[in-house]
Amino acid sequence: MTKVLTLAHYYTTPEVQQLADHVGDSLDLALYAKESKADIIVLAGVRFMAETAKMINPKATVILPDMGSTCSLVTMTDINKLIQWRNSYPDYVHVAYINSSAEHKAVADWTVTSRNVVDIIKYLHQQGKKVIYSPDRNMGAYLNYQFDFNMPLWSAVCEVHDQFNEKELDNLFLQIKTAKFLIAHPESPLPVLKRANYIGSTFGLLNWVRQYSGDVNATILVATEEGILYNMRQARPELNIMQAPIYTGCKCNSCPYMKLNTVTAVKLAQQQKGGVEINYLTEEIIEKAYLPIKRMLNFKI
Ligand code: 13P
Ligand code: SF4
Repeated sequence: MTKVLTLAHYYTTPEVQQLADHVGDSLDLALYAKESKADIIVLAGVRFMAETAKMINPKATVILPDMGSTCSLVTMTDINKLIQWRNSYPDYVHVAYINSSAEHKAVADWTVTSRNVVDIIKYLHQQGKKVIYSPDRNMGAYLNYQFDFNMPLWSAVCEVHDQFNEKELDNLFLQIKTAKFLIAHPESPLPVLKRANYIGSTFGLLNWVRQYSGDVNATILVATEEGILYNMRQARPELNIMQAPIYTGCKCNSCPYMKLNTVTAVKLAQQQKGGVEINYLTEEIIEKAYLPIKRMLNFKI
């Protein structure tokens, strides 16, 4: 019998998460794909996650429920310009965030996720390496600021996190007297990150909430995509958890690419009646792009 494994990212809807065997951050999804013996992996996430799963587990058939599930960090990056940029720093180590295309990873030395980026980049600096970082300008700016690095950065952003706004945040802190904490994903702009009590990956943010032991009446503002608020509220239903505001003042920010994983699209993919198979990566790209992924997976924090 064909074995199907469904993996979902925290940014998918609660209904989609309930259809999945595992829900996790992008590192978890890569690790689940690595360990899986399933014939088919349905990846309810975005395309770079499905491509990564395919490169890690080439024997599995990897299905993305909707081929439109891209990521602005990928679409904002012109691959020819990126290659030129990388070649203009010949003696630098190129670290690429996992939110990148396979062609992009093929010209990187390391990949990182938001969970291990700090440890890997600190490690490379300790080794005396000069590092360039792509494609997320906000995350790179945060790393340079926080650790006094001087990494040249590629300039793409997550269109969802880039909208979190420090002025709206300051207003909200004034309006809501119980608002005491801000936790933020490092794809957010630096002025927002400077106000954060904790900065971490989706996994890290969820753990922060799980372990929170402060005042239960405090409001915790979360600067990341709305999907994970479901997991946070499930973990700690007694806490006041609210999304951070964006430019329009609204406490609402949603990734349109993640939301293409509708219940119908995921169910059709699980039944092998829909979705798109990740079968277009060339041998050459897989060989080159898997190297930086492998380095990351072998890196022990
Ligand atoms: P995580 O690695 O924290 O899950 O982030 C993935 C992502 O796309 C964030 O926007
Ligand atoms: Fe890409 Fe941002 Fe969506 Fe994550 S939230 S998949 S970084 S567009």
